Amino acid sequence: MDSPQEQRGGVRRWLDDRIGLAEIETLVRKKEVPVHRHTLWYYFGGMTLFLFLVQVGTGILLLLYYRPSAEEAYESVRFLMAEVEFGWLVRSIHSWAANVMILTLFVHLFSVLLLKAYRPPREITWVSGVVLLALVLGFGFTGYLLPWNELAYFGTKVGSEIMGAIPLAGTFLRRLLRGGDEVTGATLTRFYGIHVAILPALTTLLLSLHLFLVQRHGMSVPPSVERRGGGTRTMPFVPNFLLRDLVGWLSVLAILAALAAYLPAELGQKADPFAPAPAGIKPEWYFMFMFQTLKYLPGTILGIEGEILGVVGFGVGGLLLLLIPFLDRRTARGEPSALFTGIGLLLLLYMLVLTYLGYTVSSTQ
Ligand code: HEM
Repeated sequence: MDSPQEQRGGVRRWLDDRIGLAEIETLVRKKEVPVHRHTLWYYFGGMTLFLFLVQVGTGILLLLYYRPSAEEAYESVRFLMAEVEFGWLVRSIHSWAANVMILTLFVHLFSVLLLKAYRPPREITWVSGVVLLALVLGFGFTGYLLPWNELAYFGTKVGSEIMGAIPLAGTFLRRLLRGGDEVTGATLTRFYGIHVAILPALTTLLLSLHLFLVQRHGMSVPPSVERRGGGTRTMPFVPNFLLRDLVGWLSVLAILAALAAYLPAELGQKADPFAPAPAGIKPEWYFMFMFQTLKYLPGTILGIEGEILGVVGFGVGGLLLLLIPFLDRRTARGEPSALFTGIGLLLLLYMLVLTYLGYTVSSTQ
């Protein structure tokens, strides 16, 4: 009889012949992560990935009980929270992890922006990242409606109303999203399909491309570090960097568990389309800076409706964000680019200040 070592060798050879285990091993062993004073920021992409996986896992569990219709959605979530063992925990983790994931995603975005990781040859990594951002925000927007409670209903009504301000296609897009002129059970069914099928499929596709490119190009060394002659020191990805990643993931899991236990997701009242909108309807925090900007815009600017200009402005802003690697020619040539560092910092400041104002100024109005 073969010894355990010989048996393991046999399994290894069997797998190697079929899936090229040796090549995968060489690839993993070769992967290195640069070590310098900004290495900390490399952890946020992986953290976002981990949180995405938490969302997939908890989302699948929620699907076991959730029912996507205006008649049953609210009741199915109430049943899950009150009757199903640990149902409250799964739903609360799904809700908290969504928020934390968007936070780590923004940290990831701003760190790669300010460290100029988008410069050649990583333009497509950046572009796939911006599309992922849009998809993740789409998850947030569509998921918010699914419990079919009062806040979700009116939040979606306001959010989809804003979409109607897009010139030319606005009315069509709003109808397409709502499944009619109003937010109804048809909207809920559409949002459900988008949330559990369309967005997961697109995200998986884009994420595979993103991670393939990260693997293909390796981690970039920020130009500021390169110019000082740093960034040549590295650490092996397996096990050194991966174990550090794991410490971060376990910590964030502990934070999620604590948040879910002490501040479980709320449900509130069931949506009633005929009831008046409750006072102080607010979007989720990650949409707040846009919502607040629209509030500050005057009714008309140069004869054009303020809201239309605002929505067009966000569209143009999103497009410019997508094109940054192609616009920042100085960084592409390896020269310092204070302009784009300034734009990045201003954007961050703008988002922070408007979000802050959204929670302070408007709540007293
Ligand atoms: C679901 C969302 C996302 C996930 C799961 C994700 C995941 C990752 C991971 C694991 C890495 C390697 C480690 C790291 O640099 O942190 C990475 C790198 C990168 N990501 Fe993302 N990412 C996402 C969204 C974004 C967004 C929104 C952007 C920017 C618009 C972006 C741009 C980049 C770039 C340029 C790199 C290369 C960094 C370098 O080589 O230094 N990603 N991403």
